[in-house]
Amino acid sequence: MRALARVNLAAIERNVRRLHRELDGAELCAVVKADGYGHGAVTAARAALEGGATWLAVAAAAEATALRDAGIGGRVLVMGALTPDDLDAALVADADVVAWREDTVEAIGERGGGRVHVKLDTGMGRLGTRDAEQATRVAELAASTAGVQLAGLMTHFATADEAGDAFLGEQLERFRAWALPLRERFPGTLLHAANSAALLRDRATHFDLVRPGVAIYGLDPFQRDAATQGLEPVLELSSYVAEVKRCAAGESAGYGRRFVAPSDTVLATVPIGYGDGVRRALTNNADVLIDGRRFPLVGTVSMDNLTVDLGPDAGGVSRGDEVLLIGPGLPAEEMAGRLQTINYEVTCGLTPRVPRRPHRDGAPA
Ligand SMILES: Cc1ncc(COP(=O)(O)O)c(C=O)c1O
Repeated sequence: MRALARVNLAAIERNVRRLHRELDGAELCAVVKADGYGHGAVTAARAALEGGATWLAVAAAAEATALRDAGIGGRVLVMGALTPDDLDAALVADADVVAWREDTVEAIGERGGGRVHVKLDTGMGRLGTRDAEQATRVAELAASTAGVQLAGLMTHFATADEAGDAFLGEQLERFRAWALPLRERFPGTLLHAANSAALLRDRATHFDLVRPGVAIYGLDPFQRDAATQGLEPVLELSSYVAEVKRCAAGESAGYGRRFVAPSDTVLATVPIGYGDGVRRALTNNADVLIDGRRFPLVGTVSMDNLTVDLGPDAGGVSRGDEVLLIGPGLPAEEMAGRLQTINYEVTCGLTPRVPRRPHRDGAPA
């Protein structure tokens, strides 16, 4: 296979179970937006439900539609902003939606009703309202509009992944001050706030429902080592050695001659590139694993190929050998660090040209 993303569904299940063990009665909503953080939304969703998730969340209405089209039932929360068309689609998909303005609740009522989660912006500064009184009015309207159900009260943390940061506590207090009295008035309304980092960091953030995304894929929300959180990476990205060729001292490889061999060496050509999501900024700035050994990526990453320096004796590597770009010993966090970004962007950035192959601990799924 030219380029392949193997996705271990058994690892998703185990990660969800491991997160579930942190909970004391709260339900788990697995976030599968952006095609399951690049892992494949439908297969990830099924695995998460198998592992004990009872809710799914996406960002876009079309993502909810895709889950329903694949036959996935149960509660699906669309967390993102909705155009009128998106709102139609979300309601047709029988998804729960998020609101923080009265006109959204009215629009839901006019469309025959739906389940609404009211969002207080406690400090993220994106979606939701910062005005707790407005949020309360929206919740009251949802509870009193025919066909509309006030299903949840929610917020989202800005700094949960920054260990030791005090802002999480400030956001939590703002949320509690608003949501706890409202739940007294509207029993059965679910309170939810925690992303992966908050779930792992502070039980006080769990409330009735938690919304982990990145952790269910075995990616460390703190950008360190997922194993220290008891999480197992799910995705392996591989390609293969398509060509092995000598490169004499002074010869170069790739666009712009960004690698000029300082001495005689042997290069492997690996047919994966930024057209697959292996970013060009990894030029002269990554390692790959071949048969468990690290070799440096040299030269410019192009759209469809990259080159690897095997050293003067070719390191025992032959055409056809598998090349791992993400996998055991080479985590997505390392690639993210090289790119000065976060693991989320690495897996979300894999393009549709890379087939996702689901398996269960190596057995075809
Ligand atoms: C509102 C909301 N909740 C939960 C999540 C899941 O976050 P994470 O992947 O950090 O667990 C996200 C993702 O960005 C989100 O936007």
